[in-house]
Amino acid sequence: MTVNLRTPPALAPAPVRPAPVRPALIAGLSAPKGFGDATLRDRRVDAIELLGGIPDPDVLPTSALAEATARVLGRPGVPALQYSRTEGISPLREWIAEREGVAVERVIITNGGFHGLSLAVQAVVERGGLVAVDNPIFPLFLRGLELSAADILPIRVGSAGLDVGELADRLRDGARPAALYTVPDFHNPTQGTLPAVARAELVRLAEQYGFIILADNPYRELWFSGGPESVDAFNSSEHVIHINTFTKTLGPGLRLGWIVVPDRLAKDIVALRSRQDSHSSTLVQAVVGELLTSDPGVFDATLGRARALYLNRARTLVAALERQAPGAFQSVLPGGGLFLWPRLSDDRIDADRLAADSSAEGVEYQRGSFFPSGPGTGAARHLRLAFGHVSEPQLEEAAARLGRALRKQVK
Ligand SMILES: Cc1ncc(COP(=O)(O)O)c(C=O)c1O
Repeated sequence: MTVNLRTPPALAPAPVRPAPVRPALIAGLSAPKGFGDATLRDRRVDAIELLGGIPDPDVLPTSALAEATARVLGRPGVPALQYSRTEGISPLREWIAEREGVAVERVIITNGGFHGLSLAVQAVVERGGLVAVDNPIFPLFLRGLELSAADILPIRVGSAGLDVGELADRLRDGARPAALYTVPDFHNPTQGTLPAVARAELVRLAEQYGFIILADNPYRELWFSGGPESVDAFNSSEHVIHINTFTKTLGPGLRLGWIVVPDRLAKDIVALRSRQDSHSSTLVQAVVGELLTSDPGVFDATLGRARALYLNRARTLVAALERQAPGAFQSVLPGGGLFLWPRLSDDRIDADRLAADSSAEGVEYQRGSFFPSGPGTGAARHLRLAFGHVSEPQLEEAAARLGRALRKQVK
């Protein structure tokens, strides 16, 4: 066939059109705050950053992942480079299902914890619906909730996690949330863990009043002693979506997590997901699945090293703060996770000024006020100090810098 390539006739220049209107969904998003704020501040080049819940690269299974990748890519036909099922690949789902003690059909692989949360919200919250949330709260959840234009019902979080009694009062008063969001283990930021009895009561309330618990559990595996609190009450209820991630255990860059969903929601969530990105990376799933199943001890061995390292760092930081600024911080050694949540003991200390002076001294952390909270939580009198990725000498130095910043306000 011959193609006749002719010069097209000259066209009049197209009129300049006004820029397209931003859809209401985009226009309604709030300006970045929170995560941006400490991160955008000018800081010293030698600043020690105690900002995010970042795992230490030394306790991530890098060489085992490299070997698993080579094996996966060496398979005939290289299935890891092909499309796969929306709910995730079988070996990985089966491994997770066994660890969670649930049927494999209830496990859906996600691109990490935050993705699991957005899927869960979209699946159970009507636009403009009411969602009960931790108070104070992990701010990213609220940002995600903006997409649903949801109303928020804050429920206080204390040293033993969510105040289930306060939630019960609000429900008795007539509040009817579609969902309740909480971080049950090593809460971010306050570090409390919800005890078994309160979990059971929370599930009972969800079943009585017909809401879905969004149990967001990224720190669960990072307990320091005695094992984690049981999730049986969550995983055996039709009223819970249990959200988890490999971010804190195998590395956030994998962007890999999972949700355990009630049977009756599994199809809806898969249908929703199939209209978004189809599925998580087959390659990443295959590599992590290979890592976890080829050597059944590798995950727990990785976690064992991580727990010992983080406990040591938590202890170092608590002791260093007390040495550098005796009595200034009320610190509770956390039972797990990656954060310390000390409270400023002296009411004369201005918490915002302390953050600015600390930055000038070369230490960056999240102020308690960075975490949205209602009145009465006292969150603004706290600091959230992330210790997971910071070496012991650096933690000592960070505490010394914090001590110097404090002494600018009280001698
Ligand atoms: C409470 C909480 N939920 C969810 C996430 C998000 O996890 P991911 O990085 O897997 O999306 C984090 C991460 O810091 C978190 O602290």
